[in-house]
Amino acid sequence: MKKRLVVLTGAGMSAESGISTFRDSGGLWDKYPVEQVATPEGFAANPQLVLDFYNTRRKELLNVKPNEGHLGIAALEKDFDVRIITQNVDNLHERAGSSQVLHLHGELTKVRSTGDESLIYELPPDKYDVKIGDKCEKGFQLRPHIVWFGEAVPMFDEAVRTAQSADIFVVIGTSLNVYPAAGLLNYVPKGIPVYLIDPKEVNTYRNDIRFLKKGASEGVRELTEILRKGLSE
Ligand code: APR
Repeated sequence: MKKRLVVLTGAGMSAESGISTFRDSGGLWDKYPVEQVATPEGFAANPQLVLDFYNTRRKELLNVKPNEGHLGIAALEKDFDVRIITQNVDNLHERAGSSQVLHLHGELTKVRSTGDESLIYELPPDKYDVKIGDKCEKGFQLRPHIVWFGEAVPMFDEAVRTAQSADIFVVIGTSLNVYPAAGLLNYVPKGIPVYLIDPKEVNTYRNDIRFLKKGASEGVRELTEILRKGLSE
């Protein structure tokens, strides 16, 4: 049976594809006030601004592609039961070929009803521009299918179960600043190998982590070598 490799990814995973991170200098939260574009209060105050922010993010998706890091993680499915937990709202893991991707913070390519959260729709690329007046089948305005600050994280319990089931755990490109996602490391079983790929120091409160201080592409290449070596031992 294949070992289960659980990978927690953040914005740094997609940085080499040309998508901005949030908290690096020049990151998205430097350019856009987070409380205006990523909170329910911001949406209530100025829905047009928020729809436009995510319309722009969606259009970016059309011009980027998975980087070597995404492709390397997808390739690991040959030897491992790979489960990705991503904080990213882009679709680059899926486009790289990964088959098990849990999106903790929602998905850019989806919208949902403001009146019935069970009504979720996948947008075709020619409908990426969501406007005021675009409604669900019950007549409620559509909103981005994104978990905003201050909102519940519906996929968290499943993410916890996934973290608990890991034989090997890897963290790539997240500053681990945002909870509950950052707390997932607390559910990773003690004694299993844990790797962290990031070009900068990340504080994890764990002392059993092997830190690969590299960008995602190079880091995933090195990780793959380490894991393959482990398979042949
Ligand atoms: N390869 C790997 N990691 C990188 C790279 C790279 N090429 N470039 C930058 N990084 C690292 C940064 O050093 C940082 O540790 O990626 C991390 C990005 O951190 P954040 O910008 O804070 O992004 P993230 O942790 O994903 O944010 C979590 O916050 O705003 C919310 O909902 C949003 O999902 C997001 C959440």
